[in-house]
Amino acid sequence: MIKSEIIATGAGIPKKTVTNFDLEKIVDTSDEWIYTRTGIKERHVVMDETGATLAAEAAKEAIGKAGIDPKEIDMIVVSTCSPDYLTPTVGCMVQKEIGAVNASCMDVSAACAGFIFAVSVADKYIRASAAKTVLVIASEVLSKFTNWEDRTTCVLFGDAAGAVIMRASEDRGIIKEELGSKGEDWEVLGNGKLPTANCFNGMPKFTQDDTSIFMDGREVFKFATTKLKESICNVVESAGLTMDDIKFFVPHQANTRIIEVVAKKLKVDMDKFYMNIERYGNTSSASIPVALKEMDDNGLLNKGDKIILSGFGGGLSWGTILVEW
Ligand code: UT7
Repeated sequence: MIKSEIIATGAGIPKKTVTNFDLEKIVDTSDEWIYTRTGIKERHVVMDETGATLAAEAAKEAIGKAGIDPKEIDMIVVSTCSPDYLTPTVGCMVQKEIGAVNASCMDVSAACAGFIFAVSVADKYIRASAAKTVLVIASEVLSKFTNWEDRTTCVLFGDAAGAVIMRASEDRGIIKEELGSKGEDWEVLGNGKLPTANCFNGMPKFTQDDTSIFMDGREVFKFATTKLKESICNVVESAGLTMDDIKFFVPHQANTRIIEVVAKKLKVDMDKFYMNIERYGNTSSASIPVALKEMDDNGLLNKGDKIILSGFGGGLSWGTILVEW
């Protein structure tokens, strides 16, 4: 049976670092509050970079490590909830940048769970023999949707891109997955409202605030701690495995306290949860592939290891994937 294997990883990180101390100068907050409530110390924010340039940087690194020719890529799937344009897709812009002339390109949007959804799409095309080599990227520039006067959200997010190359394989790859959404709670978390103003409806006023991130933090916290635990259990059990069989859990990096609660509920040691939120903040759907690239670079991922990738976010949506490295 054909599986889809992750063969390489990459990342694109903006050069500028913004520390909690920098934010103390902008809003009424403190390094102590941010670090103890979230685990974040610093994040990266774009200056001249864009979602497409970060994505292309991540893609080039993954392509180089995989040792493939960009012309071998059949498909590019980009997860983003903060694209440069509504159209063209970030995927098409990356295609031009890397010369993947034989690829079809699409963006998928499932907020912070988006990388899991994008990997799932790639996995289906590969399993159906409709593609052999797929570039999956998650690229997010949430700084442009951030209200820098709102201390309840502006301290949380960062910009980044992460990429993986997925390839058809006979013996290892994605084993199980669970994707889900709860649209009835869409108002709990979101960003980027678009104006529906036109010359027939009186051009209703639209402010910068309308486009900014909105969030009920406590509701998201409850949702995340419940759903991550449930979803991870469902996937691990449906594969006939136990938590002991999993080498690493790579969760969406939204808040250290969320992960600590989930680890406790699952009775899994925190050491098995890869964490880098301290250095990047919440980079939405980019957080999981950026973590994977760090783990890969640090030699933490070995052939045959079983890894759980699990994301949650606006929608509300969630997704968990069990992969054999
Ligand atoms: O990708 C998914 C994206 N979102 C999330 O994952 C968010 C999930 N939720 C959370 O991570 C947490 O709910 C937050 C970190 C957002 C907030 O932590 P909390 O422990 O739920 O704090 P809170 O909202 O209950 O606020 C506690 C206090 C409030 O003051 P009062 O009313 O007690 O006087 C806030 O006004 O902390 C205040 N506060 C701040 N103080 C200093 C809120 N933000 C800040 C801040 N600095 N940045």
